[in-house]
Amino acid sequence: MSVGILGIGRYVPDRVLTNFDLEKMMDTSDEWIRTRTGIEERRIADDNTDTSDMAYHASVEALEDAGLSAEDIDLIIVATVTPDMAFPSVACLIQDRLGAKRAAAMDLGAACAGFMYGMIVAQQFIENKVYKNILVVGSEKLSKITNWEDRSTAVLFGDGAGAVVMGPVSEGKGILSFELGADGSGAKDLYQDGPYIAMNGREVFKFAVRQMGESAVNVINKAGLTKDDIDLLIPHQANIRIMEASRERLGLEEDKLYKTVHKYGNTSSSSIPLALYDARKEGKMKDGDVVVLVGFGGGLTWGAVALRWGK
Ligand code: ACO
Repeated sequence: MSVGILGIGRYVPDRVLTNFDLEKMMDTSDEWIRTRTGIEERRIADDNTDTSDMAYHASVEALEDAGLSAEDIDLIIVATVTPDMAFPSVACLIQDRLGAKRAAAMDLGAACAGFMYGMIVAQQFIENKVYKNILVVGSEKLSKITNWEDRSTAVLFGDGAGAVVMGPVSEGKGILSFELGADGSGAKDLYQDGPYIAMNGREVFKFAVRQMGESAVNVINKAGLTKDDIDLLIPHQANIRIMEASRERLGLEEDKLYKTVHKYGNTSSSSIPLALYDARKEGKMKDGDVVVLVGFGGGLTWGAVALRWGK
């Protein structure tokens, strides 16, 4: 049984916060942020919009795109580090709002790699014929755990949500291979310290460059493919230098790296589904194309998938 993506949706807040806006809020510059991270602007949710609101809107669009109703969904998985509250889960909040009466619901914590973990958990249930249609969402309101007094982290993050409906697809399409991993010894390098994100940027940078490249190569090998088979690389959108390093490690041409980091910043678990959404909209993924998704995050965690696009 092949398992793939049946529909995609997204939500990004209207409010745009540019690097020039940040220059007025703290001691930083557009030049520093752009050259060190590739970020030009990010979206920030208003006080009335929480993680579950963004997850809900993205899910409505994903269901519509898949041509399914909420009652067709068997399980909802929401990857997030910024839930509305400790419990109930964001997944339960949107289950009710969507009217997904038959669905089980849970949140999943693997930080920025959460969406990759969510996709693979969903794949297992579908492949084993336990469930048929699973909604996997990445949704983050990182602005509420951002310390706006700390320029070393405040410039990096943004808010948004992306959702996919996963289900059975025709033979040879969908997920071809995956890799998930964790290294808890790196917990100290990226964590929530009281109300805010704390990060050892250099250590995370080194880890990310090594792991993203390695995992991308591993899934390609596991799928029995070579780099020439890859049509598009969609890495976690944290920093353009990390993303470029994984492209180089794979030996891919520049135009095969898909980027949204300049316009959304790092949106943690939402970054990969948001990028998938925009890539499809821009016609970057055609039926039968091989797409590699690769993410890393606090934990430390990582995950990669080789996917043949289409149903
Ligand atoms: N504006 C201006 N200057 C700044 C800023 C800022 N916003 N932030 C830091 N600086 C200064 C520092 O104070 C330092 O000054 P000094 O040399 O006088 O001490 C200088 O810039 C260099 O700082 P570094 O931290 O060494 O800069 P670096 O080149 O390492 O870039 C960055 C920092 C962008 C955070 C980088 O380390 C990075 O991208 N790391 C990985 C971060 C990441 O991907 N995190 C993921 C977060 S969550 C997730 O997605 C899993």
